[in-house]
Amino acid sequence: MNQAVIRWISGPVLRAVTHDPFCIHESVQVGARGLLGEVIRMQGDEITIQLFEDGTGLRPGDPVAGQGMPLSVRLGPGLLGHIFDGLLRSLGGEGRDFLQPGLCVTPTERFHMTPLAEPGRILKGGDPFAMVRPVGREGVEQLCLIPPDQAGEVVEILPGGDYGEEEIVCRLQDGQGLIVEIALSHPWPVRRPRPVERRLPVGPPLLTGQRVLDSLFPVARGGKAMVPGGFGTGKTVLLETIAKWCDADVIVYLGCGERGNEMAGVLDEFPRLEDPRTGRPLMERMVVIANTSNMPVAAREASVYTGITVAEYFRDQGLKVALMADSTSRWAEALREVSGRLGELPGEAGYPAYLSTRLAEFYERAARVITLSGKNGSLTVMGAVSPPSSDFSEPVTIQTKRYVRNFWALDRKRAQARFYPAIDPITSYSEDAETLAAWWSQEGAPDWARQRRRFLTLLEEQTRLERMARILGKDALPPGQRLTLLCAELVNDGFLRQSAFSVKDRHASPRKQIRMMGLLIRFMDRAEGAVAAGVAVERIVALPVLRRLQRMGEEIADDELERFDGLEAMLEADFGALSAGGEQGA
Ligand SMILES: Nc1ncnc2c1ncn2[C@@H]1O[C@H](COP(=O)(O)OP(=O)(O)O)[C@@H](O)[C@H]1O
Ligand SMILES: [Mg+2]
Repeated sequence: MNQAVIRWISGPVLRAVTHDPFCIHESVQVGARGLLGEVIRMQGDEITIQLFEDGTGLRPGDPVAGQGMPLSVRLGPGLLGHIFDGLLRSLGGEGRDFLQPGLCVTPTERFHMTPLAEPGRILKGGDPFAMVRPVGREGVEQLCLIPPDQAGEVVEILPGGDYGEEEIVCRLQDGQGLIVEIALSHPWPVRRPRPVERRLPVGPPLLTGQRVLDSLFPVARGGKAMVPGGFGTGKTVLLETIAKWCDADVIVYLGCGERGNEMAGVLDEFPRLEDPRTGRPLMERMVVIANTSNMPVAAREASVYTGITVAEYFRDQGLKVALMADSTSRWAEALREVSGRLGELPGEAGYPAYLSTRLAEFYERAARVITLSGKNGSLTVMGAVSPPSSDFSEPVTIQTKRYVRNFWALDRKRAQARFYPAIDPITSYSEDAETLAAWWSQEGAPDWARQRRRFLTLLEEQTRLERMARILGKDALPPGQRLTLLCAELVNDGFLRQSAFSVKDRHASPRKQIRMMGLLIRFMDRAEGAVAAGVAVERIVALPVLRRLQRMGEEIADDELERFDGLEAMLEADFGALSAGGEQGA
């Protein structure tokens, strides 16, 4: 084992002298307590280490021991349903946020295994060899995979029964005749993307149940979205809402460097939540990684890699996975702090020059793929960005924007007006939308792309007209423009606004979104026709159906969509009466 001796310490960074062949990114144990660290630089006889645990009490002369492998986490069936720290050590059900430094947690959970292979079978890396479910608690069935870098002929596989995660249950003989031991879980270096057979173009939408996202700024499975927003604009609530409602099979929720109370929703509420799709606890298909601001800064740096590695592991089982990272800005700050301690030349706003590369490497791991075993899997990544004082021109926002396809900008003004979700329809965009039109078409909305464009154009027009109205006064605008403003307000209130707390409206199915969009378009067409025929805008404002359209999201639940027929009839009747009344008046 490689050995070194500490020479210099500065917070989470230390230098040690060695004559042994350490490797870059090698995992190390530091001092008598065996604190976890990682080699991040090598120069002559000196290695530089970032320490993932609180190093209080360490001093020059203390020993460093190499572990002969890069920083890795153990991936297996014990992940789902649990809360971990940034290095994937279990925080227990109660989500306590500290472990004793140096503490190594050995999993105690047992799983009932059903073998899926028999002696003589050739298994490649990534192939499933067993199906497991937890013993003594409810939990979903999961596949256990041969580690991606191993393969061979099965010479032994244990019979169905209960086993611990690290027990050897299968033996393969590889091409050189060597025996490879396989357990239900296996280690994987977090900074190395897990291999796939091939990458596919991004796929059908990851449905979130949020109208402003699914209908206007949809994200495709395998896609990547960023949620920039100043303090208190609703990033955390939005990511939590998506975690609760999106149609992923597995959710990996990464709380990264935010204050403990920011994660309270996830730590307190999620363990009690019911999965709306199955009625079972939502946590059964979730992994929570909590690395709050009071935990060591270097562990925060590692936690995003831990999170995405865990997410890839489920993708490799042929699942649809969604990863939420809140907040990637705190991760960037951790990079900055470690870089500062290393004495590196700071770039813009003090961030290291490699910030951009690191962001690229992270988002690059989102993908829709054919897995090594030939299954379809996807990993969709959504990252919150917290620009100081909502300044979207700061480096983390700018650099992240280069690598994501979806930009869901939270707007301070909307949030202050308690308009939620506070996603700004003007600055937000989705580069996945075009691809997804075909999917909506199949779902019964052949006009989706055109309708979406019409909404977006209307909202842009609203911004322009409101600027004019502020100068000239609203009444000075011609009727057509006043109608545009009315319709834009209706789209905002009746469609984009969606309360996370309304039982009927916190989630909207694609069919509900299609019906609502269709009705609003119908309203716009009829209203434009009426104004063109000389009907005063004030009379349209007074139509009873307008009030109903504004509230339709909260009034009509996903399972009572036939009620939209009644609303449509009312709309037609109202406009019918209007033109009849108009003729009478004429
Ligand atoms: N979709 C929403 N529905 C209702 N209230 C919301 C919503 N989003 C945010 N809020 C309110 O705004 C507050 C701040 O939101 P939060 O997500 O914590 O902001 P951020 O993470 O951006 O700092 C929440 O505590 C909540 O009261
Ligand atoms: Mg937050």
